[in-house]
Amino acid sequence: MSSMLGNISIRTMGYLEVRPLRLEVLRAGMVNQTVTFDGDDEPTTVHIGAFTEAGVNIGVSTWMHRPFPSEPQLQGLQLRGMATAVLVQGQGIGGLLLHAGMEYAKKVGVDLIWANARDAALAFYNRHGYSTVGDGFIETVTQLPHHQVVTYLVK
Ligand SMILES: CC(C)(COP(=O)(O)OP(=O)(O)OC[C@H]1O[C@@H](n2cnc3c(N)ncnc32)[C@H](O)[C@@H]1OP(=O)(O)O)[C@@H](O)C(=O)NCCC(=O)NCCS
Repeated sequence: MSSMLGNISIRTMGYLEVRPLRLEVLRAGMVNQTVTFDGDDEPTTVHIGAFTEAGVNIGVSTWMHRPFPSEPQLQGLQLRGMATAVLVQGQGIGGLLLHAGMEYAKKVGVDLIWANARDAALAFYNRHGYSTVGDGFIETVTQLPHHQVVTYLVK
C-alpha cells in the first residue's frame, strides 16, 4: 500500500519484535504492562506486522491456533495484540493486517477467526466482517470492556 508514509509493507515478524508496539499502544497509561502472551513463541503462532519504507514497525497482530470457546469443535484462529502506532491510526493499516491474517487463515484452512476485542475497536472489526457475539466482559489485564468477535471462513 502506498500512503503519506510511503510504501507500507506487511510481513511476518518474530515474537520479540512485536512487544515494543504492544507496550506503546496497548498498555499506555496502564498499571499492568504485560506484553507477553502465552503461546507467543509456539511454532504455529504467526506475528504479522506493518512496516514503513524505512523499516519502522507501525502495526502488529498475533494469530494463534486456539479454539473459539463457544465453538470448540471448529478449527479456530485467535487474533491477539492488534495495534497500530497512534500516529498512523485511521489510515487503513489495521485493515491491511486483518486482510493478511485472513489470507493466513485461508492458507492453513481454519474454520473461523475470533478475538477478545476492546469495545472501542468493535466498529473496526464489524466493518471488516467480524460479528460481535455474547455478553460484554471486563478483560483482566487491561480492565477495559470487551466483547468477543468472530468471522467464519467459507470453504
Ligand atoms: C483498533 C486499531 C488496531 C485499528 O487499526 P487502524 O490502523 O486504526 O485501522 P484502520 O485505519 O484500518 O481502521 C480504523 C478506522 O479508520 C477508518 N479508516 C480506514 N482507512 C482510512 C483512511 N484511509 N482514511 C481515514 N480513515 C480511514 C476506518 O473506517 C476505521 O473506522 P472504524 O474504527 O469506525 O471501523 C487501532 O486503531 C489501534 O491500535 N487502536 C488502539 C489499540 C486497540 O484498540 N487495539 C485493538 C484491541 S482489540
